[in-house]
Amino acid sequence: MLSSQSHLEDSEFSMLSVQELIKDPNITVPNNYYRPDQEPLKLLNGNDHFPAIPTIDLERLVSKEHTELELEKLEATCKEWGIFQLVNHGVSSSLLEKLKLEIQEFCELPVEDKMKFKIKPGEFEGYGSLVRSDGKLDWGDRLFMITNPVHRRKPYLFPELPSSLRNTLECYFQELQNLSKILLGMIAKNLKMEIKEMEELFEDGMQLVRLNYYPPCSEPEVVMGIIPHSDATGITILHQVNGVDGLQIKKDGVWIPLSIPPEAFVINLGDILEIISNGVYQSIEHRVTINSEKERISVAFFVNPRFDAEIGPARSLINPKNPPLFKKIRTEDYVKGSSSLKLNGQKYLANMKIENVKACSTIIE
Ligand code: OGA
Ligand code: NI
Repeated sequence: MLSSQSHLEDSEFSMLSVQELIKDPNITVPNNYYRPDQEPLKLLNGNDHFPAIPTIDLERLVSKEHTELELEKLEATCKEWGIFQLVNHGVSSSLLEKLKLEIQEFCELPVEDKMKFKIKPGEFEGYGSLVRSDGKLDWGDRLFMITNPVHRRKPYLFPELPSSLRNTLECYFQELQNLSKILLGMIAKNLKMEIKEMEELFEDGMQLVRLNYYPPCSEPEVVMGIIPHSDATGITILHQVNGVDGLQIKKDGVWIPLSIPPEAFVINLGDILEIISNGVYQSIEHRVTINSEKERISVAFFVNPRFDAEIGPARSLINPKNPPLFKKIRTEDYVKGSSSLKLNGQKYLANMKIENVKACSTIIE
């Protein structure tokens, strides 16, 4: 079904806010959101039972008695899945409840208020959604911003948010920062890389945050919340703020819908960790589907190395028997390169591969 050429289509708001678009009860999916060519879910063995992603228990991971077993589980999960749900993560349910209320309140602000944050030409941070290289838009409104280091925060974004939301987000970021430090430490242990190397890379690292608001759509099969991609991050911590599912992952060539309990976070491994691990772990491809009735709200927290760090296979992992599979690049350049390619769902990681690994094994530092 093609566009009804809604009256909204000429206004800039329609480009930037799906939430506004669906206020018209007669709206059909406009052409620039229309994506009928999605890879469908394949039912396995004729039933609709899909496998669940593994669950990692943070309390067990840091406990004396269970750490070994949980570390093994984490290792197998990182290798086989690149994604897991994290329970007993220690972030209090009262903070998560506050976060939910504050974000919902932000989403309900008049569109004019949210437009103060809109993406400026040539930028990728801000409110709205960018037109992808095929001319299409995702079915969702987002606020995307760098939140660490603090001096890289755009003055018109995070500092201008309503103060109660800002304070709650600040607490939340602090919690997730601590959490990511623990997880990256455990990952370093499993990779048998020097923990210090991992810590130095991610100390005061670049942190990006995306608040995602996905309005419902009466034709969910012809729109996409976010097209298939892997995150250009170390790790991503995703929280389904209002408990509505929609995330799907591609595993062994097949799309799997995820059903995440409300108290769990989703942790996925990104391209940068794939590089650091020298390909031992791989980033996971995922996409976001839309619900026909319910709105969906999520917060994605992207954990990256320091801006001035050099991303490359971990020094402590590389030796003549394990030559580097990826080139080195500064975080800053990686982020710039990946944010432009991401618009067409391409991976910057592909540019980082060393084609002839044998030839390079002689130039290890
Ligand atoms: C992302 C992402 C998933 C979601 O922001 O990169 O994949 O469920 N989000 O919102
Ligand atoms: Ni993602």
